[in-house]
Amino acid sequence: MSDYILVLDEGTTSTRAMLFASDGVLVASSQAELTQHYPKGGWVEHDAGEIWDRTLACAREVIPHAGGAAMIAGLGITNQRETVVAWDRDTGEPLTRAIVWQDRRTEPLCMELREAGREQEVQRRTGLVLDPYFSGTKMRWMLDNVAEVRAAAEAGTLAFGTVDSWLLFKLTGGARHVTDASNASRTLLMELDAQQFDEGLCDLFGVPRAALPQVIDMAGELGRTDPRLFGGPIAITGCAGDQQAATIGQACLSPGQTKATYGTGAFILTNQGSEVPRSTHRLLSTVLTQILGQRTYAIEGSVFVAGSLVQWLRDSLGIVDVAEETEALARSIPDSGGVTIVPALAGLGAPHWRADARGVIAGLSFASGKAELARAALEAMAHQTWDLAQAFAADGTAWAGLRIDGGMAANDWMAQDLADMLAMPVERPGFVETTALGAAMLAATGAGLYPDLAGAAAAMQGDLTRFEPVMVDEVREERLARWRKALAAA
Ligand code: G3P
Repeated sequence: MSDYILVLDEGTTSTRAMLFASDGVLVASSQAELTQHYPKGGWVEHDAGEIWDRTLACAREVIPHAGGAAMIAGLGITNQRETVVAWDRDTGEPLTRAIVWQDRRTEPLCMELREAGREQEVQRRTGLVLDPYFSGTKMRWMLDNVAEVRAAAEAGTLAFGTVDSWLLFKLTGGARHVTDASNASRTLLMELDAQQFDEGLCDLFGVPRAALPQVIDMAGELGRTDPRLFGGPIAITGCAGDQQAATIGQACLSPGQTKATYGTGAFILTNQGSEVPRSTHRLLSTVLTQILGQRTYAIEGSVFVAGSLVQWLRDSLGIVDVAEETEALARSIPDSGGVTIVPALAGLGAPHWRADARGVIAGLSFASGKAELARAALEAMAHQTWDLAQAFAADGTAWAGLRIDGGMAANDWMAQDLADMLAMPVERPGFVETTALGAAMLAATGAGLYPDLAGAAAAMQGDLTRFEPVMVDEVREERLARWRKALAAA
């Protein structure tokens, strides 16, 4: 019976193919690292050709575990969002390196638009703010600065897309230039309640509408893989930006339910149901699901630096050999000895939106060592989350509890610290790859294995571990006071 689901999970630092059984059990997985290019301070680029080659190689490695393409009921795609790929429709080749979501090069353009008084209008229409994070200004930068992109635009062969769109194009052998609604809602080019990209917003950002993909559902018959790729066609039946996929994978399917993913960055989404949410506290409104044209929405808080701070401690400072060591180091001391880290290494995202902010390590003394720095790095996750909790509450969307996932969430010390600092229960699924699981739920629903996402979640979601808050108020207050002070210096 063909009831396997193949997921392609294309993240910021690696790409993976994961094969799931229809009950959500992971059967096989293959992963490849992606090269990070940092040509200048604040610039982050990927090679879209490498993304495709490595994704394809990973998929080819796991498909035999299903017994071949014919045994796969549906393929789900999930991806790092906002990252922009420009390619030529005729050759199918990238025209320049992809500009990654973390890239800050378009801050001058964002500032220009902010100074021209356009932010309110943009926020009202798109649910986003004028920050280099989003795709629209990255597309404009490519047109202004890359001759090949400009020439393709003039010749009418330019295709822009986020990574989902690029993979859908390549997987279908160039037959489909489409993007799912969740990824489209991160571009600044679509009105939140519209079905397609908006001519007026495209004009504002100077992006030709003709170069953009068609916006489609997140589950259903989205396309078919080129039969030459995997020895037979596979139906593409699910697609979502990775944070939306994780929200689905955590079964946050009812209004008010909230998940936090601690990956490269940290992204917290609260389900808002079918009404378009409007934040007045610098949070984002975003598409959560679109199936049969029907949308649900989420409010999102995006933090740019989470796991990448631990990576930096490991790779640049050499404080740990592997990220997991931070847990033992944090436990080895009763507190951080007054050390506080503000992880603004790539500016600050929600709710501050300060592209110019930079990281701070405050409170160093001769007694500060590896353990204090590691602990302060982990504590910073709860501090950043606390800031978002305040903004969500001020928006009328206070969290009752938090479901966490992502690589860092495996750290028990950090999970407990989150519960303590937020003074609320934190739940973690046994299987923390909720992004891939969410894409699998979408693809299984799209393939008709389940009638809807709730049915898929009931069948595919695993058990949860619960962390209850135990911290006394004075400790929390002391930590927050230090955090606020350090934040002001960032
Ligand atoms: O918005 C950026 C986000 O989609 C990146 O996710 O998993 O690569 O940290 P991740």
